[in-house]
Amino acid sequence: MVSVVLPFHLHTITITILKLLLFLTILHHLPPKTTSLLPREALPTKSGYLKVNSTSGSSIFYTFYEAQLPTKPLSETPILIWLQGGPGCSSMIGNFYELGPWRVSSNVSVEPNPGPWNRIFGVLFIDNPIGVGFSIAASPQEIPRNQHDVARHLFIAIKKFIKLDGSFKTRPIYVTGESYAGKYVPGFGYYILRQNAKLPVSSRVNLGGVAIGNGLTDPVTQVATHALNAYYSGLVNDKQRKVLESLQKEAIELTQNGNWSEATDARNRVLRTLQNMTGLATLYDFRRLVPYQDELVAEFLANVEVKKALGAKENIVFETCSDAVGEVLHEDVMKSVRYMVEYLVRNTKVLLYQGHCDLRDGVVSTEAWVKKLKWERIGEFLEAERKVWKVNDYLAGYVQKLGNLSHVVVLGAGHLVPTDQAVNSQAMVEDWVLEKGLFANEQINKMRSNLRSLL
Ligand SMILES: *[C@@H]1O[C@H](CO)[C@@H](O)[C@H](O)[C@H]1NC(C)=O
Ligand SMILES: *[C@@H]1O[C@H](CO)[C@@H](O)[C@H](O)[C@H]1NC(C)=O
Ligand SMILES: *[C@@H]1O[C@H](CO)[C@@H](O)[C@H](O)[C@H]1NC(C)=O
Ligand SMILES: *[C@@H]1O[C@H](CO)[C@@H](O)[C@H](O)[C@H]1NC(C)=O
Ligand SMILES: *[C@@H]1O[C@H](CO)[C@@H](O)[C@H](O)[C@H]1NC(C)=O
Repeated sequence: MVSVVLPFHLHTITITILKLLLFLTILHHLPPKTTSLLPREALPTKSGYLKVNSTSGSSIFYTFYEAQLPTKPLSETPILIWLQGGPGCSSMIGNFYELGPWRVSSNVSVEPNPGPWNRIFGVLFIDNPIGVGFSIAASPQEIPRNQHDVARHLFIAIKKFIKLDGSFKTRPIYVTGESYAGKYVPGFGYYILRQNAKLPVSSRVNLGGVAIGNGLTDPVTQVATHALNAYYSGLVNDKQRKVLESLQKEAIELTQNGNWSEATDARNRVLRTLQNMTGLATLYDFRRLVPYQDELVAEFLANVEVKKALGAKENIVFETCSDAVGEVLHEDVMKSVRYMVEYLVRNTKVLLYQGHCDLRDGVVSTEAWVKKLKWERIGEFLEAERKVWKVNDYLAGYVQKLGNLSHVVVLGAGHLVPTDQAVNSQAMVEDWVLEKGLFANEQINKMRSNLRSLL
């Protein structure tokens, strides 16, 4: 072969073209354009799509915010995953209305959150399952109908996410979420542990724990608590309590018979009747005179410049909650995942927290199924002291912890705990992950108090 020496001017042109290509590549990787609605400092560190089916192209949308003030090297800095509930609601509610670094305010512009969860941890918001928020379901048939299939897609997505950055692989991952994510969080945690057992150490997902806020986890137990909870809160009288109890009985029986769709409808009747009797603005927080304003997120994300800046598909009409996905998971609603929590509490750590003022999936509702946990330490847990929890010297709520299980009551909060108590919820999640304060290991606490009595 004759080697061709390029004439000088051609050579220069080649280099110029190469430089141009290089420049275009860099340009492509620069942070996307910002808008007046979403300033540069409010942009996620990474965002976009993770394909979960290479044949159909179905993809999960995510936004990731790196820790603002990491206390460890990034390769050791925990990552929290946030999953919204519904079924069918977008984690962009969590991102822009609850725990993200910037939240949409009443005039549809963003302002800094006083208690973002990404202060010392990375936070990854995932629009789950496909078909929700900016995520893409190539066909309605592909939308998962049960927790196993939801978890399978999440597992594919998280493995792809971890590959995006060399430092992600070693970072402990905590799966967190709220409301209907009381199903997704255990489902995903359980799936991860089961998959890990089959995988070589180098391919495992480094699960650090799971946290559920105001969750629906064991619905048949939880649906039985509304009447008494409302009665002892003074919101209904004895006659109304009995009406609610008979509606609850229907929901319980339909669940026990495996009439899943009708059981879901029956639960909705309980909640609608409770709402009707009490005349409250929302069951998500009995104090509220107006419901949570999460539709602000939809208004904000309707803006094409904002979609572009987030790397979301511009042709998607963003909805806070997808009725189509809600419909597909309708038969899943009353199915319990308590057994998955029983598995998780033996193999990783579990946090259950509830805003005190929630009438849907609140404190009493959670304690009812926790009592039923088949776990060798449940007796000890129920006997453990419920400690008064303070943040910056102010009463924040109560913490009960034994071994791998922690339960937190957050005062002054409804269903959306981070919206109502940004700073306290941040303190809670940080202390729980780092095992500090009331979440410290009992052995260490005992050693400390022994040491104090010696001094
Ligand atoms: C991927 O999508 C195709 C086409 O819709 C479907 O037939 C297939 O079952 C999907 N695969 C998985 C693993 O979900
Ligand atoms: C409304 O938005 C502007 C920015 O567009 C901001 O400066 C102002 O403080 C906001 N006002 C309120 C009441 O949130
Ligand atoms: C439960 O479902 C079965 C069939 O799936 C139906 O025949 C029956 O009428 C249902 N029961 C009630 C109480 O709705
Ligand atoms: C409750 O339902 C009744 C009958 O449907 C209706 O007349 C009433 O206005 C409702 N009350 C509230 C507070 O929604
Ligand atoms: C608690 O979780 C750890 C893993 O973090 C596990 O090794 C241990 O067995 C669990 N403890 C109990 C009592 O289940």
